[in-house]
Amino acid sequence: MAERTTSDDDREMERPQFGTRNLPSHGDVFQHNTWDNVTWNEEQEKWAQEKVDENSAVTVSSDQLLKYETEADKYWDKFYGIHNNGFFKDRHWLLIEFPELAPNTVKQNIDRPIRAALTDEERSHGERHIKILDLPCNEGCKILEIGCGVGNTVFPVLVYNIDPKLFVYCCDFSAKAIDILQQNPAYDVSRCKAFVLDATQETWATPFEPESLDIIVLIFVLSAIHPDKMQHVVQQMHKYLKPGGIVLFRDYGRYDLAQLRFKKGSCLGENFYVRGDGTRVYFFKQEDIRTLFTDNGFIEEQNFVDRRLQVNRGKQLKMYRVWVQAKYRKASS
Ligand SMILES: C[S@@+](CC[C@H](N)C(=O)[O-])C[C@H]1O[C@@H](n2cnc3c(N)ncnc32)[C@H](O)[C@@H]1O
Repeated sequence: MAERTTSDDDREMERPQFGTRNLPSHGDVFQHNTWDNVTWNEEQEKWAQEKVDENSAVTVSSDQLLKYETEADKYWDKFYGIHNNGFFKDRHWLLIEFPELAPNTVKQNIDRPIRAALTDEERSHGERHIKILDLPCNEGCKILEIGCGVGNTVFPVLVYNIDPKLFVYCCDFSAKAIDILQQNPAYDVSRCKAFVLDATQETWATPFEPESLDIIVLIFVLSAIHPDKMQHVVQQMHKYLKPGGIVLFRDYGRYDLAQLRFKKGSCLGENFYVRGDGTRVYFFKQEDIRTLFTDNGFIEEQNFVDRRLQVNRGKQLKMYRVWVQAKYRKASS
């Protein structure tokens, strides 16, 4: 069974130094560690699909499949019990990719503190494809993050969004994660409420009403949910968003290095795998996300595949990272 490595979840943070670096059509690929905006040709897609075919035989028993589903929250509890708040880094770059999370800061052109907090690797986020959506709120925005973990998105939002009336709800089905988040000195109950919620539950017990949220954030979360239950989660998001409210999405893409690295015996279903620690991950095509959202009442504002090539110069290895990033809007009534 595949062991979780930091490269699985953490290295999506990595960015080239000093801005976007595009791979030239001729030139030495091993000249730099990372290249942005990498395009794939048919041969490469074929090679990646062959790798997936190799690791896709489902050998996990139906009892094990059921256990991974019914005890999914326990596997994440265990994960957070081991890593506490040290595994994922604070996602400062999200504010560059998703300026809607701190529109006051961005509009007043005072996003320098955000950029200053970025590592060199993260600095080129958003420079290629920034699109800022209008929000139903001018102030007093209500944001929900689903699968917030220990708050690596929530805390940067609370710092950089200077609206005193902002309120951020955040939930996760791991009680351990929520507990760690609530212990963080930056957890400010006048602007934030963290609570335990399994987003796959038929009905949600929430501290807010239907049609009351301006933004829902979904970062590397839908991939952790069984594909059969993703549609229900999207429908619930639609229910709780205001008309005109938006979803901000980023997650693993099909043929990402993390998918190709899985060994035989880790596959639970098509493009759905279990890591060594029992947590699960799905790898999306751009169209998967498009269909999920547009079939359930959302309008597509943006949906792109973010591809990057990371290079190990010493070993002359090429590693392809793939993510899907998207923004969807609930139609105004
Ligand atoms: C890869 S982590 C990402 C955490 C956080 N969004 C971040 O980017 O740092 C996936 C998170 O989704 C949570 N999660 C998985 N399935 C969930 C569900 N059905 N309901 C709520 N949270 C869930 C896990 O507990 C975990 O915290």
